Amino acid sequence: MVFRGLMTLAQVRAVESILPGGAKLVVRAARPEDTAGLLAATVAVFEERGHTVTEPDEFQVTEEQERAWVQRHLDDPGSLVLVAEVDGVVIGSLSLERPNRRRLAHTAILGIVVTKEWRGRGVGTALIRSALAWAAESGAIEKVCLSVFSSNVGAIGLYERLGFAEEGRRPRGIKVGPGSYVDEVLMYRFVTR
Ligand SMILES: CC(C)(COP(=O)(O)OP(=O)(O)OC[C@H]1O[C@@H](n2cnc3c(N)ncnc32)[C@H](O)[C@@H]1OP(=O)(O)O)[C@@H](O)C(=O)NCCC(=O)NCCS
Repeated sequence: MVFRGLMTLAQVRAVESILPGGAKLVVRAARPEDTAGLLAATVAVFEERGHTVTEPDEFQVTEEQERAWVQRHLDDPGSLVLVAEVDGVVIGSLSLERPNRRRLAHTAILGIVVTKEWRGRGVGTALIRSALAWAAESGAIEKVCLSVFSSNVGAIGLYERLGFAEEGRRPRGIKVGPGSYVDEVLMYRFVTR
């Protein structure tokens, strides 16, 4: 992929790249007007009932609440929401959530979704690279953490390729059905020395 910086928005450098197949991907900071697109992409991924904790009926977020969530991240210099966009359509998103405790405020928890039809083309990689670059320059975030189903081997491989390592796991932390469990794998990556 060819990366090139486009502009600055809310201290995030928007990055444009060409995906395999020729579509133009833009990764940029989310704006309040992205609310409907963000919700649609998130709901589509939850509806797969795959490797995500939240089940579709548990996600009852209104557009107003989502807009406020985006705005809160724009206002907090230690938090971030990115969108991945193709032809003006949100096809993925990434959030970095900073805990509101001073002794934890050097950390951020990463969440990411890419809609099914766009996976395996580097969108997740582009989102995470942008988030790590932003975190390293933020002056606020030193450590990025995430948790992932032990069964989500593709995602774990992607995170390892981008420098994340396992820091522990919660055995049977996730119950995916009656008598069916997976471990919750905790991963981290420092973004400062
Ligand atoms: C996990 C997730 C975000 C990854 O996003 P993605 O866009 O598919 O990630 P990438 O395309 O960057 O990388 C995934 C794979 O594509 C490959 N890839 C990356 N760039 C590529 C390119 N330019 N051309 C072809 N393949 C590429 C990667 O090597 C990787 O290979 P793998 O199949 O061996 O894992 C996405 O699968 C998803 O949203 N899943 C459902 C929700 C979820 O599991 N979220 C994570 C919870 S912790």
